[in-house]
Amino acid sequence: MDERVITNHQLAEDTFETSLRPNRIDEYIGQTDVKENLKIFIKAAKIREEVLDHVLLYGPPGLGKTTLAFIIANELGSDVKTISGPSIEKSGDLAAVLSNLESGDVLFIDEIHRIPRFIEEILYSAMEDFSLDIIIGSDGNSRNLKIDLPPFTLVGATTRAGDLSAPLRDRFGIVSKLQYYNTEELTTIVKRTSRVLDITIDDEAASELASRSRGTPRVANRLFKRVRDFALVKGNGHINKEITYQALDALKVDKLGLDDTDYQLLKAIIEKFNGGPVGIEAISASIGEEVTTIEDVYEPYLLQTGLLKRTTRGRVATDAAYEHLKIAKEGTLF
Ligand SMILES: Nc1ncnc2c1ncn2[C@@H]1O[C@H](COP(=O)(O)OP(=O)(O)O)[C@@H](O)[C@H]1O
Ligand SMILES: [Mg+2]
Repeated sequence: MDERVITNHQLAEDTFETSLRPNRIDEYIGQTDVKENLKIFIKAAKIREEVLDHVLLYGPPGLGKTTLAFIIANELGSDVKTISGPSIEKSGDLAAVLSNLESGDVLFIDEIHRIPRFIEEILYSAMEDFSLDIIIGSDGNSRNLKIDLPPFTLVGATTRAGDLSAPLRDRFGIVSKLQYYNTEELTTIVKRTSRVLDITIDDEAASELASRSRGTPRVANRLFKRVRDFALVKGNGHINKEITYQALDALKVDKLGLDDTDYQLLKAIIEKFNGGPVGIEAISASIGEEVTTIEDVYEPYLLQTGLLKRTTRGRVATDAAYEHLKIAKEGTLF
């Protein structure tokens, strides 16, 4: 699959993301409820001189889970150790990280839903009793090993909270769902990015960019970077409204922030499946995108914008979708 400009997923070129990450909770824009609650829990943990309860952050890619995980550690004044679910292949991988923790550390596990179930169990006692229970050796010659761990805070991030097993989910004292950002919040993020990268942008241009970023800071920052290139080559480096329109049109990002794949998806439902309801597998086969990508990236935003509906019998394109794609609905006059 070639990389799309507006994909929410992190790309190799996104090293610049690190430089754009706010470090303090007060620089973290939006997500007010999540932020205010976290501030209280962090403060309380500090007053009690205890570690913060384990935190689960979930929501679509690009909404700021990793950023927030590092901010939590920063606000606690803790060191962070990071590991990602898919990189954990054997129990030893997880045991190694756990046994290296120091008192008060934050252990950030990205894509925590992708830890294999049989390894995940190691986390249960680690989270609950700060103890590492592992079996060493093989059949016939194995024994249990129990190691005390220092108190630590696990911060888990996932795009699919539903994929976590109940026992794992239950061990998080704090569970926070990140929401899509509104245009105003994204405008603030775009302006912050322009300051950090030292590139000027007009207010109108910033809000246009924001409104086409599908509620996602990662997309906003990526579009910013592309528009910046247009400004440099076609203008004088300053980002104004004309340059922004020109760039976004060239990138085929429409008014709502939809791109080719979103169009393909909606068109498939409308033209091949009569508007739905249709199962996700059929859509996947029809447009050649993986089911998980559709579920994690495209669908949440299309649901959010009201172009798509989920029913028990499958996905349905709404009237708004017909209108947005300028396709007449059968039985209606256009
Ligand atoms: N609340 C926020 N305020 C400012 N910038 C943000 C915010 N959330 C995310 N970002 C920006 O978006 C980028 C992607 O965020 P990230 O934390 O990597 O998302 P996730 O881990 O949920 O996929 C970050 O580099 C950061 O610059
Ligand atoms: Mg992340």
